[in-house]
Amino acid sequence: MTTVWVLDGPNLGRLGSREPEVYGAATHDDLVRACEQAAAELGLAVEVRQTDDEAELVRWLHEAADAGVAVVLNPAAFTHYSYALRDACAQLRAPLVEVHLTNPARREAFRHTSVVAGVATGTIAGFGLDSYRLALRAVTGLLPRSGS
Ligand code: DQA
Repeated sequence: MTTVWVLDGPNLGRLGSREPEVYGAATHDDLVRACEQAAAELGLAVEVRQTDDEAELVRWLHEAADAGVAVVLNPAAFTHYSYALRDACAQLRAPLVEVHLTNPARREAFRHTSVVAGVATGTIAGFGLDSYRLALRAVTGLLPRSGS
């Protein structure tokens, strides 16, 4: 079974208590459960990780690049300024889907730039936890078919 990694950046571990009027009531555990359920329905395995540490996120992307793993990435605030993250993403060989719970284009001007988008296969934003479900579905469509 193919494993897809879901990597979440800073402050996403605080979902549920973090600005609920912006990010909703779902916790990061809820996000993990939503990804696991969506993956099971799609016939995928999923590993969900969250960190507030840019260096750790870069290391995980290096691991994914070396292992040829497909990644669903919510870079959170790093989206908008981390060239280190962008350069790590550029090394991935399997599909990369950038996801956001909110639609950054509808928010403050500093969120309108993604330094990651230019090296992602595609971006899904604005649908809450459904952004992750949709991203996993998109990744499934991009993976080589097994047994054919
Ligand atoms: C976010 C949007 C970013 O602008 C913000 O910094 C986040 C979350 C989202 O999922 O909507 O932390 O990536």
